[in-house]
Amino acid sequence: MPLTLPNLPYAPEALEPHVDTATMNIHHGKHHNAYVTNANKALEGTPFADKDAVWLITHLDQLPADKMGPVRNNAGGHVNHSMFWQVMAPAGKGGGGTPSGALGEAINKAFGSFEAFKEKFANAGATRFGSGWAWLCVNKDKNLEVCSTANQDNPMMGKDIAGCGGTPILGCDVWEHAYYLKYQNRRPDYMAAWWNVVNWAKVAENFAHALAGNAWYEVKKTADGKFMFNLKGGNNEVVLTSETYNDLASCNAGIDSVRKSAQDTARFDVKTASNGQAYFVLTASNGQTIGKSEMYSSPAAMEKGIQAVQRASGSTWVEAV
Ligand SMILES: [Fe+2]
Repeated sequence: MPLTLPNLPYAPEALEPHVDTATMNIHHGKHHNAYVTNANKALEGTPFADKDAVWLITHLDQLPADKMGPVRNNAGGHVNHSMFWQVMAPAGKGGGGTPSGALGEAINKAFGSFEAFKEKFANAGATRFGSGWAWLCVNKDKNLEVCSTANQDNPMMGKDIAGCGGTPILGCDVWEHAYYLKYQNRRPDYMAAWWNVVNWAKVAENFAHALAGNAWYEVKKTADGKFMFNLKGGNNEVVLTSETYNDLASCNAGIDSVRKSAQDTARFDVKTASNGQAYFVLTASNGQTIGKSEMYSSPAAMEKGIQAVQRASGSTWVEAV
């Protein structure tokens, strides 16, 4: 299915006076809409036309060379803006205030205080030359980091492309189109006002998802020149060992099958070994075996392994070793 423009989760005037109505209408209806249209146009008639936007921006190297630039900019713009609308809410009605709970604690741990975090984030946005985004991300060690990217790059594209990596949980658009009508060239004023409409409940939800999905895929070259991957859980235990693949592209396709497992397109077959221990085999919807789990001492222990695979479906971490 082609990419589609999501509705705003509130009325265009709901973020006044911090983000003005005219900006919201143009930003969502024209700019975001154009990213969706142009991404679809670039992918029309290719095998990638039905891929979701996060898949596209995390697999830019698998696209035909002439599609990489348009998809990086336009699917990137679509992913970034889709998050942007969600992490805002009307001031006093979900927007503004301070983060609490696990997110509040993680911010204090990473930056010293909420005020220090805000200063660092504002600085990341203010010093981004030209167009781009300021981000709060969960890194591979489950810690919070602030960074910025140029244009419509997203940390999920990886450090080599975007200049920083991680799973973003909050993003602030610092393109002039996000603030110029009201704030003209005063980007710092826009960012200072923007805190009044940050939806911390949504950011906390993003934080929880980023932590849960923080399993990762370790891609290895085998002694005979083939490829395989281990799916590792949050504390680095091997949850699943894949089949071997003749080339890296097939290995990546296997990883994608694991990602899809939470959407019920893959099957978990539970088996019992001759010594009484249990394991499971993950099978893709086309019947191809993706991988086999470690041995577990009991069905209850194995259930945790299956849950780890399901959580990892949202993970974007792939590391070649
Ligand atoms: Fe924008």
